[in-house]
Amino acid sequence: MAPNFDGKVIIVTGGARGIGRVYSQALAKAGAKVAVSDILDGEPCAVEIREQGGEAFFVKADVTGEGSVKAMAAAAHDRYGRIDGLVNNAAIFADVRYAPFDEISVAEWDAVMDVNVKGVWLASRAVYPYMKEQGSGKIVNIASGVPFKGIPVYAHYTVSKGAVVALTRVLARATGKDGICVNAVAPGLTRSESLLEVRGGLVDEDDVPQIQSRAIPRSQYPEDIVGAVMFFLSDAASFITGQTLLVDGGSYMH
Ligand SMILES: NC(=O)c1ccc[n+]([C@@H]2O[C@H](COP(=O)([O-])OP(=O)(O)OC[C@H]3O[C@@H](n4cnc5c(N)ncnc54)[C@H](O)[C@@H]3O)[C@@H](O)[C@H]2O)c1
Repeated sequence: MAPNFDGKVIIVTGGARGIGRVYSQALAKAGAKVAVSDILDGEPCAVEIREQGGEAFFVKADVTGEGSVKAMAAAAHDRYGRIDGLVNNAAIFADVRYAPFDEISVAEWDAVMDVNVKGVWLASRAVYPYMKEQGSGKIVNIASGVPFKGIPVYAHYTVSKGAVVALTRVLARATGKDGICVNAVAPGLTRSESLLEVRGGLVDEDDVPQIQSRAIPRSQYPEDIVGAVMFFLSDAASFITGQTLLVDGGSYMH
C-alpha cells in the first residue's frame, strides 16, 4: 500500500516525461501536491494529474541554473506554502552516447556532469532553506546501478551517478541536524519512455546482459522504482539517511 502524502508538497525534477512523470503521477495519487519541474514542457503531466483529481502544477526549470532552481523552489513554496520533498530525478541519460572512456569528448563529459551532478547539488541547495525552516524534509536522489558495476563504455554517466551517491552522503550528514533526510535510489536498466525511443532494441530483448544478471530475470519498469522513492519520502523513513537503495531485481548485491 502506498504511503499517505496528504498535505505534503513534493517537487519532482525531470518530471515531464519518463520515470519522473511516473513518480509525479504516483505521488499525486497518494495525496501529494506535486511541483512537476523540467526543462521540457511538463504541463501535460500536471494537467493529467489535475484531471484525475490530484493536485499539481508545472514549473519550468533548468537544474544547471542556480537562479532557475531557486525560482522553482520559490514557486512551489509560494503556491503550496511548504516543501516536504524533492526528487532529484532530472538527468541526461538516454541521449548519452556509449563510447570508450578515451573517446568521450570533453564537451560530452562536462554536459553530463553539469546536469547529473551540479543539478542535484543546486536543486538540493534551493530547497534547503525551506526545509531547514520547517525542521523537516526528504530529498531523494536518483542514482543508478552503473557506478556499482563500472560500465566501461559509459564513463561520464557512470561517474556522474557515483557522484550522486557521494553527494547523498554529504548532504545527509550536512542536513540531518535540521530534520532533513537525504537518500538515493539506484535503478537498474529500466524501460522508460526515452530509453525505448533511443535504444529500443536494447531494452526489448529479454536476453540483454543486464536482465540475465538479475536474481529476478525480467525487464524493469518505471513502476518497479516508485515504491522505493515513496518509502524514502515517507514518514516511515525519518531515521534513515545517507543510504542508497538499489532497485534492480537483485543484479548487484552488497
Ligand atoms: N531508464 C533507465 O534505465 C535508468 C536507470 C537508472 C537510472 N535512471 C535515472 O532515472 C532518471 C530518469 O530517467 P529516464 O529514463 O526517465 O530518462 P529521461 O531522459 O526520460 O528523463 C530525464 C528527465 O530529465 C529532464 N532534464 C534533462 N536535463 C535537464 C535539465 N538541465 N534541467 C531540468 N530537467 C532536465 C529531461 O527533460 C527528462 O524529462 C534519470 O536520473 C536517469 O539517470 C534511469
